[in-house]
Amino acid sequence: MNTEKTEVAESRKTSHIELTFKSQVEKLDDRFYYEPMLSGHPSGELEPVDFCGKQMAYPIWVSSMTGGADLAGQINKNLAEAVAKYGLGMGLGSCRQLLDSDKFFDDFNLRPILGSQVPLFANIGIAQVEQLIKLGELKRLEDMVGKLDADGIFLHVNPLQEWMQPEGDIYHISPLEAVNQMLEETSLNIIVKEVGQGFGYESLKELFKLPLAGIDFAAHGGTNFSQIELHRNTEEANELMSPMVFVGHTANEMVELTNRVVDELGSQRMCNQVIISGGIKNYLDGYYLTEKINVPAIYGQASKFLKAALESPEYLDRYVQGQIEGLKIANALLRIKR
Ligand SMILES: Cc1cc2nc3c(=O)[nH]c(=O)nc-3n(C[C@H](O)[C@H](O)[C@H](O)COP(=O)(O)O)c2cc1C
Repeated sequence: MNTEKTEVAESRKTSHIELTFKSQVEKLDDRFYYEPMLSGHPSGELEPVDFCGKQMAYPIWVSSMTGGADLAGQINKNLAEAVAKYGLGMGLGSCRQLLDSDKFFDDFNLRPILGSQVPLFANIGIAQVEQLIKLGELKRLEDMVGKLDADGIFLHVNPLQEWMQPEGDIYHISPLEAVNQMLEETSLNIIVKEVGQGFGYESLKELFKLPLAGIDFAAHGGTNFSQIELHRNTEEANELMSPMVFVGHTANEMVELTNRVVDELGSQRMCNQVIISGGIKNYLDGYYLTEKINVPAIYGQASKFLKAALESPEYLDRYVQGQIEGLKIANALLRIKR
């Protein structure tokens, strides 16, 4: 052994002694069997993932966030660069402003950064879909998706958020009716998502019966848009309405509900893609839930990506690398407990 290596080994042994008493771990993540005997360290890539006719290098989705506000354009560009570099997928934030003018088009125009290989989905609220149905103008959504060169569109279903928003929209028809009209009258790939409350058993079951390109949980347990709106509302509204913020379904519960619905529907099921999102804190949550669910699934994060993008493009890059490395090591060493 050369002198340099001997010195490193010596300093390592000293740190081991010094750090021992700081390194007593009592918490256990008991969702997994840890299997150190079965694999070497990961050296290659993970299996690519098919998503709506495109291929992703990793099962990681940047959930719909922003556009049309200060900072939004730059955040979107930083996120798109990371998505393109690592072969992920991305949803735009609500593109409602694009229906009225092109003022903010650049904020949303991410295809030139993303390139043609990775999936990109536009986004619109179900309240706007309802308004366009009334006007007989659903075609405008097809035009918008075409102009963005997106692979399809998210319809976000957010009745609680709208209810708690001071200037919120009211739904006059059920979101199911609006989604069905979209499916009948457009040829768009449609993914239905919530915004932080998730979907219950009956809603999920109805969604899985539709020929959707996907269902994005946007489950309870992370960013919650009802809570955000209450922060924007009066103190009184906040006090009166806040119990509803705590209603909803976690991503883990929704995976269990999905498995039940998939069993029950059998060949009646028309949708075969899920984005598991809402409160996904790290790659282990993503790995656990995508392994546990019985349909093809990737995992999505919003606030975690936002935080990383706000810090710096370099940190965002390291954040994505961390997710990927984490998934690789989890894949090699962990099996989930069923
Ligand atoms: C700043 C911000 C803006 C968002 N805007 C939208 C939006 O325009 N449309 C939408 O469908 N969801 C929107 N979301 C919700 C996210 O897509 C996601 O469903 C939700 O934040 C839960 O994910 P998380 O717990 O990983 O943050 C937004 C989230 C954040 C943090």
